[in-house]
Amino acid sequence: MFAEDEAELLRRHAAGADELADLCARRIAGEPLEHLLGWVQFGNLRLSVGFGVFVPRQRSLLLAQEAIDAATGRPGAVVLEAFCGVAPIASAVAATVDGVQVHAADIAADALVHARRNLPDDAQIHHGTGFDAVPESLAGRVDVIAAVPPYVPDHAFGLLAPEARDHEPRRALTGGVDGLDHVDTLVDAAQTWLSDTGTLLIEMNVAQFDAVAAGDGRRAFDIDAVAGDDGQTVVARFRRWLPGRGVRFRERPAAG
Ligand SMILES: C[S@@+](CC[C@H](N)C(=O)[O-])C[C@H]1O[C@@H](n2cnc3c(N)ncnc32)[C@H](O)[C@@H]1O
Repeated sequence: MFAEDEAELLRRHAAGADELADLCARRIAGEPLEHLLGWVQFGNLRLSVGFGVFVPRQRSLLLAQEAIDAATGRPGAVVLEAFCGVAPIASAVAATVDGVQVHAADIAADALVHARRNLPDDAQIHHGTGFDAVPESLAGRVDVIAAVPPYVPDHAFGLLAPEARDHEPRRALTGGVDGLDHVDTLVDAAQTWLSDTGTLLIEMNVAQFDAVAAGDGRRAFDIDAVAGDDGQTVVARFRRWLPGRGVRFRERPAAG
């Protein structure tokens, strides 16, 4: 977005000249535009965000579409956005697919305040680490798990834009030495929570996909990647591998 466009949004948001001057000064000093406005446009949704929470990225529209596609045509599908933040993916699915049961989980209570505003009243929000707060009754019943886990390698934190580095929680951004700590958590958890015909969808960087697909425990899944237009983002799709199902995302390597 050009500076002129940002200025116009701040002008419309400010109650008067003093507030506008304050907002402009803070934006110039590096505060994210979305924190100042209190919202982010995500596809056709205007999502609530606020200070100190991760702002959904436009690249995650790819994951949102994959989650919508995976839930469509499955009446009563159970959809869980793990590592949900303000719950952009769950909100997009709830707004697009009729009759889904939507759940969202995150460790950050302040982000979940916004998730509550963004999601329909019947969506369930779970506050906890990883899948700890997800009700046991969902074990083996989740049809779509979608996640944007923190996936920046620790060493790359300093390369992030100041808006992220200085104004979003570090635990929302970095995911260990290779950025894949939480991806491994998700793949492990999918074995417990996914239904037999369910799909796990994880956003990551294209450079991480091969390592993810080759990791421990992956032979339980058919895995493929959906590439974004930016040349950087991919959504890794995992489906339980069931002998004889016949439909595969890709050929599995020979055993041994
Ligand atoms: C990259 S942000 C993505 C948020 C949201 N899905 C989005 O796209 O806007 C990652 C999220 O993971 C959450 N998180 C980090 N560590 C976590 C953990 N151990 N358990 C649960 N959530 C965690 C952060 O609070 C943050 O909201």
